[in-house]
Amino acid sequence: SFVNVKMEFSSNKKVLMVTSDIPESAIKLLQSNFNTIVNYEHNREAMLAKVPGVSALFWSTKVKLDKEMIDAAGPQLEIVGAMSAGLDNIDVDELKRRNIKLSNTPEVLNAAVADIAVLLALAASRRLHEGRLHIENNTWETNLLWMLGQDLEDSTVGIVGLGKIGEAIVKRLTVFNVKEFIYCGHREKEEAKKLGAKFVTFEELLRQSDFVIISCPLTDETRNMFNDDGFKKMKNTAVLVNVGRGGIIDQPALVKALKGNQIFAAGLDVMTPEPLPSDHELVKLPNCVLIPHLGSSTMKTRTKMAELAANNIIRGLRGEELLTPVFH
Ligand code: DGY
Repeated sequence: SFVNVKMEFSSNKKVLMVTSDIPESAIKLLQSNFNTIVNYEHNREAMLAKVPGVSALFWSTKVKLDKEMIDAAGPQLEIVGAMSAGLDNIDVDELKRRNIKLSNTPEVLNAAVADIAVLLALAASRRLHEGRLHIENNTWETNLLWMLGQDLEDSTVGIVGLGKIGEAIVKRLTVFNVKEFIYCGHREKEEAKKLGAKFVTFEELLRQSDFVIISCPLTDETRNMFNDDGFKKMKNTAVLVNVGRGGIIDQPALVKALKGNQIFAAGLDVMTPEPLPSDHELVKLPNCVLIPHLGSSTMKTRTKMAELAANNIIRGLRGEELLTPVFH
């Protein structure tokens, strides 16, 4: 279960701040090693007020861990354990510069995120949201050429960023008899060859893909990588899926592309901002399937992520090697 814990402080333990509710097993691990402050408000001001004096930070929030927060913590800060694979809300360079250790939680969420990518690819291509709306609005037609979708079978699937999550997506989609997997990124990957995926440029990927699946991190390089220009290069029948970060897509450009049927549909687990306001244009589009950033949200995966982050922090403070360090 997920608990909000109150605790007794003992004088000989270092202080840790956990930034949100986390699974009980991880809290137990941490409490046996730290005096633990749980701040579950996801509120920057509250965090800034509680952070002074901590030796470790369990970072499980979208709030930015930036220079101001690191300064507020103080020079005794030794380690940050991020409970996420993505680090776009953390000033990694600043932590490195100050010799503060940093870990994240890759790998343990690959399967759950890949599952969500498949779900979104199917939901968007088969018009799940639009179909539901027709039922709600009493506009269900029985004509056999009504509400036709796009097939995964015989399609070209383009993966933007073939890391471990991208690989897991390819493995899952293989059973759908996809014609070809292509991918773009910094370099050709050995693992991709084994999976039969072909390395192409971003432009080729946009032009050739029936499904474009974004599974790369948000960096200065990938920010707004999908823009007006990019959408023009995509097929009108293309389905776009994003399980990376919302910022990889220029969202007004996506809205335009979906409205103008420049692309067929989109399935998004991530968007800008999060939470997305209910009156946002994306919410009004029948050809856009939206999920509120639930890629890694299963009981097992979130528990594994929390325990991994906790174990990293405990090891880091003991001077042991981190299980999943972000840098060495
Ligand atoms: C991650 O781990 O980066 C997921 O997107 C959850 O934030």
